[in-house]
Amino acid sequence: MRKLPTLIALAAAAVVAAFVAYAWHADDRGAEDRGAHAGPLAVAGSAVEQGRYLAAAADCVGCHTVPGGAAYAGGVPFRLPFGTIYSTNLTPDRETGLGAWSDEDFLRAVRGGVAPGGRHLYPAHPYPSYAAMARDDVLAIRAYLASLPPVRSRAPGSELRFPFSQRWLMPLWNALYLDGRRFEADARHDSTWNRGAYLATALGHCGECHTPRNAGYALRGDRPLAGAVTQGWKAYDITADAESGVGAWTAAALQEYLASGHARGHGAAAGPMKEVVAYSTSQLTADDRAALATYLLGGAAPGGRATQAEAGAAAASPPRGLAGTLGESLYAGACASCHPLAAVPAPAYYADLRGSRTVRDPQGTNLLRLLADGSPHGAGDSTAMPAFGRGYTDTERAALANYVLAAWGNLPPGLTPNDARHAAAASR
Ligand code: HEC
Ligand code: HEC
Ligand code: HEC
Repeated sequence: MRKLPTLIALAAAAVVAAFVAYAWHADDRGAEDRGAHAGPLAVAGSAVEQGRYLAAAADCVGCHTVPGGAAYAGGVPFRLPFGTIYSTNLTPDRETGLGAWSDEDFLRAVRGGVAPGGRHLYPAHPYPSYAAMARDDVLAIRAYLASLPPVRSRAPGSELRFPFSQRWLMPLWNALYLDGRRFEADARHDSTWNRGAYLATALGHCGECHTPRNAGYALRGDRPLAGAVTQGWKAYDITADAESGVGAWTAAALQEYLASGHARGHGAAAGPMKEVVAYSTSQLTADDRAALATYLLGGAAPGGRATQAEAGAAAASPPRGLAGTLGESLYAGACASCHPLAAVPAPAYYADLRGSRTVRDPQGTNLLRLLADGSPHGAGDSTAMPAFGRGYTDTERAALANYVLAAWGNLPPGLTPNDARHAAAASR
């Protein structure tokens, strides 16, 4: 306890210093859009139609809509390591939404993380990524949101433990970690790559899940898209590395995955990625998905033909070493109807596990998470993976996971009931 006053004094001093730095760093006017290359993402149609498209590209709806609730009315809980916060109402209701906000209020909140009255937002709203968005694009999103029916709905207050409940500490974080620069085209690449870069970084905020974070919970600039675990889901390495990343995927496979949530020879998008596909990447034009693929593959996008790995991804066969085990009998009863192990194709194309990274990850991160949680989400998508968290014990889920890794990934069984318990805890 004795340390507390000192800590507070130190924190206060740091915050004063940070405010000065912040004024330079993140002030919306200071970093205003310059140059034709930072201009808005050209989309046909009225501002409202452009805004609708850009809001999908930025996936605002996924975080600001409770499943089954009114679109953009907010209230989605975000469980962070240090507590729970809630997304807010973006509909034009004057009291509980954005009806009374000015354009400048909106710009500052979306890109700078500061709401009217100087209330600092937590980076669960991905302003460190949105900071790169062009002014006209943010304003088009505003025009779209303003065209929605107003919904009266107030988000619950956040429940964060000290010292994270202190919004006034956020300027310090911003001063340390917020880049705040608008997107600028890279002259070494063509316009397709640059469009993909803008879509991936400023709008799609792919890095918010796929880029590892440092001790301060900020994205690591030195390892963009190299893979990270958030809330028990591993967002895989999607750099152009052929081994650890997506470098061995064809551009066509990437586009298919981003369009439908599945690609032959690479399996399905589950968990948070399923939602990204449903709300965001499936809503893009084919040209924009091609631009994303070009960007991810580093510019030299190979042609549309399937790679050898994609074409030849082997079907699974029952692993001999696990004959007669708990895993085998559980798999036969609970999984084989949708994921048959023989050469027969999966009844649902979406359930084809061949080549999926999830069944080749020795840590079993997403596999165990999926078994605990299922993969029920996704807009307008009838395929769903049931959850096995309640009906099955930790021992049974570990046995199932070991069996899947052996059958589909040719990996030795290494997962324990404790691993299964940890994965299930992350889903609560
Ligand atoms: C990854 C989830 C996520 C995404 C994506 C996201 N938001 Fe947010 N947003 C949040 C959360 C959580 C908050 C509340 C933050 C807080 O309380 O500090 C928030 C707060 C806001 C606020 C502040 C509102 C207020 O009343 O204080 C605005 C405005 C906003 N978001 C707009 C947007 C727009 C526009 C988009 C798309 C371009 C978007 N958000 C995308 C999670 C998200
Ligand atoms: C909300 C978190 C989140 C965001 C945002 C996100 N992803 Fe993902 N992504 C994931 C997760 C988790 C997985 C693993 C899914 C699985 O296990 O099926 C994944 C998987 C992928 C894969 C498959 C990789 C592989 O080896 O199987 C690709 C490709 C991908 N994401 C691309 C993107 C792109 C492009 C964006 C931005 C437009 C993006 N993601 C944004 C969480 C996210
Ligand atoms: C009712 C059909 C059904 C059953 C039963 C089922 N699954 Fe699935 N599973 C799916 C579908 C559909 C997907 C595709 C992803 C999605 O839609 O979320 C999937 C996805 C998966 C994935 C992720 C694929 C990837 O590429 O990332 C794994 C692993 C998996 N299932 C394993 C299992 C296991 C293990 C069982 C038994 C405990 C099981 N499934 C039972 C339908 C099913």
